[in-house]
Amino acid sequence: MSEKSRTNGAEPVLELRGLSKTFGGLRAVHGVSLRIMSGDRKAIIGPNGAGKTTLFNLISGIFPASSGQVLMYGRDITSWPSHRRTALGMARTFQVTSLFPGLTVLDNVLLAIKGRAASKFVMWRPLSSYRDAYDKAHGLLERAAFLDRKDTEVRYLSHGEQRQLEIVVGIASDPDILLLDEPAAGLSSGESAEMARFLQKLDPKMALLLIEHDMDIVFDVASDISVLHFGEVLESGSAERIRSSAKVQEIYLGTG
Ligand SMILES: Nc1ncnc2c1ncn2[C@@H]1O[C@H](COP(=O)(O)OP(=O)(O)OP(=O)(O)O)[C@@H](O)[C@H]1O
Ligand SMILES: [Mg+2]
Repeated sequence: MSEKSRTNGAEPVLELRGLSKTFGGLRAVHGVSLRIMSGDRKAIIGPNGAGKTTLFNLISGIFPASSGQVLMYGRDITSWPSHRRTALGMARTFQVTSLFPGLTVLDNVLLAIKGRAASKFVMWRPLSSYRDAYDKAHGLLERAAFLDRKDTEVRYLSHGEQRQLEIVVGIASDPDILLLDEPAAGLSSGESAEMARFLQKLDPKMALLLIEHDMDIVFDVASDISVLHFGEVLESGSAERIRSSAKVQEIYLGTG
């Protein structure tokens, strides 16, 4: 019953065409177009209030778009609810933490896996499927090097570990594309470096779209960067291109 129909990889996993969102008179996102292929590592940067989180909310179906289109594998999903996008292979994390602090690491991951199963309208399941969920959670935690902490309550994890666990929870649905909203927000520089290493170890076939203020993470993880400014893409390209862009230096440093 899955909506997922993986293609040959020639079609973009995600494509935005002239995507816009207004809140009253405010143009929060304006005419954004992007293409993300399987395995791409792309970052969206920009000053506070540039529209980055709003863009994620449009992509993931939290807000309806005012105009423009969102496509996955060439299918127009602009008006789809979030859970259908998840079923097609999209996952995201939030700028603010979304874990259950009183539950263990393992239970948080199990809940994410079961939540996914529920969204596929499975009304009753054989007992063995719970074994499957457990095995899957075990595998996810092993790959993320979290197995030694599987029975620890989340509230006892460091902030950096919690942000990594959110990503493990995000990939429990086996997404083809993962949207990360400021995974290093509030982390120390040591924890940020850990996060960069963690992100580099994620499945290379999965596309990553990352919002981040920490430039070390952006340059370590992303091969392609788009700069959002007042809701519009001001500049796009390689790290070198962004670093040397006069327009980007102007908005960040107020030069010129
Ligand atoms: N639900 C909403 N209703 C009204 N205005 C909103 C809403 N969400 C965001 N905005 C406005 O849209 C603009 C873009 O906000 P957004 O949160 O997308 O910025 P951002 O780039 O993620 O910023 P930050 O780096 O601080 O997280 C801001 O002016 C914000 O106040
Ligand atoms: Mg934001």
